Amino acid sequence: PPLSRILDLQEMENVAHKLISSKAWAYYSSASDDEITNIENARAFTRFFFNPRVMRRLSNTNPSTTILGFKSRIPVFASGAALAKLGHPRGEANITEGCGRTSIVQMVSSNASLSYAEIAAARVSPDQPLFFQLYKHKDQSLALKRIREVEALGYNAIFLTVDAIVAGNRERDVRAGWTEEDVEAIAEEQQGKGKKGELPRKKTDMEELESAIDVKGTAGALVANDDRDMTWEETIPWLRSVTKLPIVIKGVQCVEDAVLAVEAGVDGIMLSNHGGRQLEYAMPSLEVLYRIRKQRPDVFSKTEVYLDGGVRRGTDVVKALCLGATAVGLGRPFLYAQSAYGAAGVVKLIRFWNVRW
Ligand code: FNR
Repeated sequence: PPLSRILDLQEMENVAHKLISSKAWAYYSSASDDEITNIENARAFTRFFFNPRVMRRLSNTNPSTTILGFKSRIPVFASGAALAKLGHPRGEANITEGCGRTSIVQMVSSNASLSYAEIAAARVSPDQPLFFQLYKHKDQSLALKRIREVEALGYNAIFLTVDAIVAGNRERDVRAGWTEEDVEAIAEEQQGKGKKGELPRKKTDMEELESAIDVKGTAGALVANDDRDMTWEETIPWLRSVTKLPIVIKGVQCVEDAVLAVEAGVDGIMLSNHGGRQLEYAMPSLEVLYRIRKQRPDVFSKTEVYLDGGVRRGTDVVKALCLGATAVGLGRPFLYAQSAYGAAGVVKLIRFWNVRW
């Protein structure tokens, strides 16, 4: 269908599902175990209702905000999600262009399928902000090299992901039949050895059958080299000592850790369970936000709080804002939008929210 006919994110997802390979679909859409946390991320939004007030001046409302001081046309950003090229040849560049054209911020995944330089080069203007999602390599010098690279390219913040140091058990992804070669190619890309974006050609059924082995899907390949010994006491001060960029912790999943993150002096907290792709039965992100609001409202005055997981409607965004979030991220919808319609799909995704431009 033409893009003008697409009315919501579900339709966009349906189009992407029809267009992309079954492996790409499995990788993008899957979540851990029985996918309960992924389902509940979205369902949690259905359990909160508004207390709508009327007779308030509305003609001058403005949904724009700042995230870590960077302007954003609406309180929404693209969460870092890996391997956009699985869905579209331009991959992450589609998201960069779409975000630039709508003045929102993109968080770029450590495991992007274009190089960080190619993504920076896709910016619509040189001052378009980009946040960098960091998977910290267990080899400190390699982690540092990655940080220096994105600093030099003008990335504006580090989102350190802390909820993915072991591979989530995503059975649909494993069942999709990733071969040893696929997984090696992904792992090599992640270590910067492979030629970025060149995933292996699609195999014939017979080749597939012959090389199919018991692998852990893509998740295993992507986290193989990450630091499993990160702590509040060591990792945050280390990060602070090596970079001046703002630091956000992505993957806070309970009130206690939100408080520890504040004590560690981070610039922002991102409530996220990785779209239900890591620990199954992690609490839906919106529930965590609600608990922080109830139990530790002081957190909101000390740091910015963001959330992702299951945000699909404008009302979802507003609910998170009402509970104290500064902005929300979306993961899969950006992958689907760019897979289905390239950069124009990404622009459309942002414009769904009826903002007058
Ligand atoms: C992700 N996510 C993710 N997070 C991260 O910190 N680094 C990464 O490389 C990835 N990669 C990734 C790939 C795919 C295919 C998905 C779906 C997700 C998690 C992502 O940033 C975000 O937390 C979730 O996607 C949010 O949930 P929704 O919006 O997809 O429901």
